[in-house]
Amino acid sequence: MTKKLFIKTWGCQMNVYDSARMADVLAPLGYQPVDEPDGADMVILNTCHIREKAAEKVFSELGRLRQMKDRKAETEDGRMILAVAGCVAQAEGEEIVARAPFVDMVFGPQTYHTLPEMVAKASRAAGSVLNTDFPAESKFDFLPEEAGSQGVSAFLAVQEGCDKFCTFCVVPYTRGAEFSRPAEQIVAEAKRLVAGGTREITLLGQNVNAWHGDGPDGSTWGLGRLIRELAEIDGLERIRYTTSHPRDMADDLIRAHAEVPQLMPYLHLPVQAGSDRILAAMNRKHSADDYRRLVDRLRSAKPDLAMSGDFIVGFPGESDADFAATLKLVTDIGYAQAYSFKYSPRPGTPASVDGAQLPEEVKESRLAALQQLLNAQQVAFNHGFVGRSVPVLFDRVGRRDGQLLGRSPWMQSVHAEANERLLGRIVEVRVDAALANSLAGTVVTGEYITASPLQPAVTLEASA
Ligand code: SAH
Ligand code: SF4
Ligand code: F3S
Repeated sequence: MTKKLFIKTWGCQMNVYDSARMADVLAPLGYQPVDEPDGADMVILNTCHIREKAAEKVFSELGRLRQMKDRKAETEDGRMILAVAGCVAQAEGEEIVARAPFVDMVFGPQTYHTLPEMVAKASRAAGSVLNTDFPAESKFDFLPEEAGSQGVSAFLAVQEGCDKFCTFCVVPYTRGAEFSRPAEQIVAEAKRLVAGGTREITLLGQNVNAWHGDGPDGSTWGLGRLIRELAEIDGLERIRYTTSHPRDMADDLIRAHAEVPQLMPYLHLPVQAGSDRILAAMNRKHSADDYRRLVDRLRSAKPDLAMSGDFIVGFPGESDADFAATLKLVTDIGYAQAYSFKYSPRPGTPASVDGAQLPEEVKESRLAALQQLLNAQQVAFNHGFVGRSVPVLFDRVGRRDGQLLGRSPWMQSVHAEANERLLGRIVEVRVDAALANSLAGTVVTGEYITASPLQPAVTLEASA
């Protein structure tokens, strides 16, 4: 009998990847994904603990789910297994069990390969199954192969965890120590993805460029070498990686940007702040000028490289001058796109007990000023593409009929009227307009479209 599985995912791409793997683990038990929690046989909240709001949402969501669970208990098919997974589960597992005893399973990011046992236990007994261990074995050695196609653009986790201990961040505590998956395992997964129709793979890791492994030749590989290996896979047209740390940007990885055509010209390289005093207090172990020089080297290797980043404003003790240094750095670099956040004190992190916490209004106004600058850069970046033709990998159908959505090499979302048979293909699109977060374009007719090993190349008719 098939059972309905609903997974709600918060947080980073690693959580998106984990949710897909949880579904794979549960598929042999008869669980099939559905789009609605109401009536589901199992609901998993895959949570994020990075900022305060993220964690709060979990408890409010649990309140709503409890009612659905109670309603289901009164029906014939009975029981909804309710689970909290991910980084809030890891950090606050015991509190969840205490505050929400109706939750059946609470498990951290490193234990979900044991879901079959947890489900069996939860089905037998009342009370919550709590599993927030950091097991000695790697879950990756136990996960089943992906159940079905992972889509045109797919994530592949290559590295997990963090040893950097930035003073504001919970990730080293919720994800554990840095771990690199073996190269062979990654290449095998990539080949399966491509055989299933994937054309673009984004390699994931909390510090993805810290990835290292033993190559088949016995030498130690870094991420650059791994990317070169993946680029050999027939049918894999695009490779990306995220998130990188400035201190792990090896020369060979920089060279790969110049030498591997499949490696896309877009890099998410968080810097967090532009003041050396704040960077030191954050334990970033690099200066603002180190970052500037690094971006210079990257752009010498790949002149059209689009930069993205993460910023925190209102870190404890941040002065007006410190914040001005962040604005200066943003102006110097010129971002295609970036994320910015108000500092959020996280339990258990050193910065949260710093006496120099800033008032909310200061954080608010700095965030507004920074976002205004970043938005202006993004708009300018996107406007520069109007009238140009860009190769777009269509990866999904758009909201409007007859429309496909895809991405440019520089991560811009591009939508255009296009026939569905162009899904999974790279097509030249002329950009007609730049909107705040996307580009609107027209498929260039008569253009040759990249062949994929599964489908022959086609030439577009005027109607495409
Ligand atoms: N591993 C990545 C990022 C992980 S978290 C890196 O090192 O860059 C994603 C982003 O969330 C961070 O880059 C940071 O900008 C933000 N962030 C993390 N902790 C935060 C906190 N306590 N308050 C506000 N933003 C935070
Ligand atoms: Fe968090 Fe810093 Fe590690 Fe990134 S490098 S995950 S910000 S501790
Ligand atoms: Fe959030 Fe955990 Fe990712 S805290 S950002 S889900 S690593």
